[in-house]
Amino acid sequence: MPELKVSAIKEGTVIDHIPAGKGLKVIEILGLSKLSNGGSVLLAMNVPSKKLGRKDIVKVEGKFLSEEEVNKIALVAPTATVNIIRNYKVVEKFKVEVPEVIEGILKCGNPNCITNYEYVTTKFYVISKNPLKVRCHYCERTMEEEEILANL
Ligand code: CTP
Repeated sequence: MPELKVSAIKEGTVIDHIPAGKGLKVIEILGLSKLSNGGSVLLAMNVPSKKLGRKDIVKVEGKFLSEEEVNKIALVAPTATVNIIRNYKVVEKFKVEVPEVIEGILKCGNPNCITNYEYVTTKFYVISKNPLKVRCHYCERTMEEEEILANL
């Protein structure tokens, strides 16, 4: 039984196996610093992991993720596992997956792209998952990890 670094939660979501150093970014993109359901948000950083060496973990009480939120996590933390907790038990566990097409959740880094001055939903094609690289459907700009993270 591994040592529990942050307490177990009763109801909510545990985002596990986040690459070390990306936990805060996960909190940021999910807007968890302004979570309004009264639940706690727990962050463990640089925890030892058999699979990853070191990992971050984010636990969110009383919140269950939408598909869009899971897709956002995949872009920041492609190794993450999402665990759904009910009454202290893991009732569902799945790995996030980088989608082939990303719609609506990422801004285009090209200031001249039509999506930045008209109400057009953004759309990107994933041209490489590791390292992450995407291409805008509208202006064909390609963006790599650093620019993607800055535009989430
Ligand atoms: N967890 C939690 N609160 C609970 C139950 C589980 O915070 N009431 C957390 C655990 O600490 C762990 C994650 O949810 O970080 C997944 O739990 P579990 O499947 O029991 O752990 P492992 O078997 O270690 O998961 P994996 O095989 O995915 O590494």
